[in-house]
Parts: sequence; C-alpha cells; structure tokens
Amino acid sequence: MSELPFAGRTVAVTGASGSLGRALLLELHRQGAALVALTSSDAPLSLTSAEGQAVPLEQVRWHCGEEQQLQPVLERCDVLVVNHGFNSHADRSAEAVLSSLEVNALSSWRLLELFAGIANANPARPVARELWMNTSEAEIQAAVSPLYEISKRLQGQLLSLRSLDLAGPQLRLRRLVLGPFRSALNPIGVMSAGFVAREILRQVRWNWGLVIVTPNPLTYVLMPLACLSRWLYFQATSKRSAS
Ligand SMILES: NC(=O)c1ccc[n+]([C@@H]2O[C@H](COP(=O)([O-])OP(=O)(O)OC[C@H]3O[C@@H](n4cnc5c(N)ncnc54)[C@H](OP(=O)(O)O)[C@@H]3O)[C@@H](O)[C@H]2O)c1
Repeated sequence: MSELPFAGRTVAVTGASGSLGRALLLELHRQGAALVALTSSDAPLSLTSAEGQAVPLEQVRWHCGEEQQLQPVLERCDVLVVNHGFNSHADRSAEAVLSSLEVNALSSWRLLELFAGIANANPARPVARELWMNTSEAEIQAAVSPLYEISKRLQGQLLSLRSLDLAGPQLRLRRLVLGPFRSALNPIGVMSAGFVAREILRQVRWNWGLVIVTPNPLTYVLMPLACLSRWLYFQATSKRSAS
C-alpha cells in the first residue's frame, strides 16, 4: 500500500473554522497529516470524516497581532497554511480599512516572517518546511469589494517581495490563488470549498508553487505573468539587507 502524501507531517491551518479551513483540514486528514487548527473563534472545532469518524486535531486559539505567541506551536509544524481572511464588502470606513489591512495583509506577513525564522533557524532538517499563503484571484482581478482587493494585493505583493529572501532549501513557499467559492466570506461563490481543497492538494502533490483554482481562464494567464513581472521588478529595485 502506498504511503499517504502527508503521513508523518504536521500541518497548521489558520482560519480553521471557516469554510476552506475546515475543508482543507478534512482533506489533509484524509491524506495522513496530523492537524493543528488555528482559530480566532471560542467555539470548539469538531470535524467528522466521510466515514463518520471524529477527526483528531489540536485546536489552538490565536488573534491577529499576537502571531509571535504561536512560535512554540509552529516550531512543531512542518506546513503552515495561512488561510484566514476578512471581506468588508462595500464598507469603506476607517475601521474597515484597518481590519482589512490587519487581517488580510499584515497578520499574514507577520506569520510568514515568523515561520520563515523558524524554518531557516534549523538548517539540519531533512525535509523543507512549507508555507502556503492563500491570497486570492482578487490579487489581480476585481472582487466587487475595494478593501478586499487592496488588502489581498498587498498580501500578495509582500509575499512576492519577501520570498526573494525567505524562500530557500529550508522553506518552500506556495501561493494559493483561488476563484470564488461558497463561504461566509462569499455566499455566492460558484465552487464548493471541498472541491477547492481537493484541487489545492492535487496541485501541491504536483509540487506547484503557484496553485490556481478558478473557473476564470484569465487568471491562469495573468497570475504567472504578474508573479514574473513582480519578481523582475523587485529583484531590480530592492536588495537584501545586510542585517
Ligand atoms: N470564498 C471565496 O470566494 C474566496 C476566494 C479566494 C480566496 N479566498 C480566501 O480564502 C480564505 C478562506 O476564506 P473562506 O472563503 O473560507 O471564508 P470564511 O468561511 O469566512 O473563513 C475565513 C476565516 O478567517 C478567519 N478570520 C476572519 N476574521 C478573522 C480575524 N479578524 N482574525 C483572525 N482570523 C479571522 C475565521 O476563522 P477562525 O474563526 O477559525 O479564526 C474565518 O472563519 C480567505 O483568506 C479568503 O480571502 C476566498
């Protein structure tokens, strides 16, 4: 019998109680991963497998702005999926600006720095740690939500910029670029979270760094071009700090 792809690996997922968070945890469990569910919610998270069994998971509470407190948990993890997200929809208030930037962009960036620090502090590890950053098609397309687009673009651009220094033999970075799927964040999405989770894991098995799941054909053309042009521009106009 062939070994499950995630056997022996511990995977932490933020936004664990959301639609994609739950779907990813279920699929990762099916593929052999030990699960750490990172959630900002007080409610206990329980998942049931297709066979009707309770899915074993470690639930850890966290809050945006308190990423550093996750260090001891993340040190035990092989893969971190940065998946939490917030959509203010039509709200353009100062509070909505703050929440969108904080939740979608800054907290994701802080987790990237934290996990990269953990990964790169341990050069002896035989298998590279991985961080998967769930940005969105909104990185490059309209999402009928200006602050969602602005904050997701910032999240994606920071990933492009910092990956120049943080990606390496000890840390594999993957960008998840997803089209509309049904969730609290987007009740009219056309795909199901379960389908999206399965497709993400399929492309990860193919070892793709840019994982795209969307019915929109333009994204498959524009997103690689956006990543390439950012890479060229950021390489040409910035440099690694000596410190
Ligand atoms: N739905 C779509 O069409 C779509 C398309 C492209 C990309 N995405 C991205 O996919 C990811 C998952 O979204 P989803 O559609 O599954 O939405 P969802 O069901 O609303 O899940 C998002 C989760 O993010 C966490 N979250 C929300 N506000 C937070 C805060 N202030 N601090 C910390 N965590 C917070 C919550 O999980 P906890 O309560 O467990 O913390 C929430 O359940 C997001 O990054 C989203 O931008 C979604």
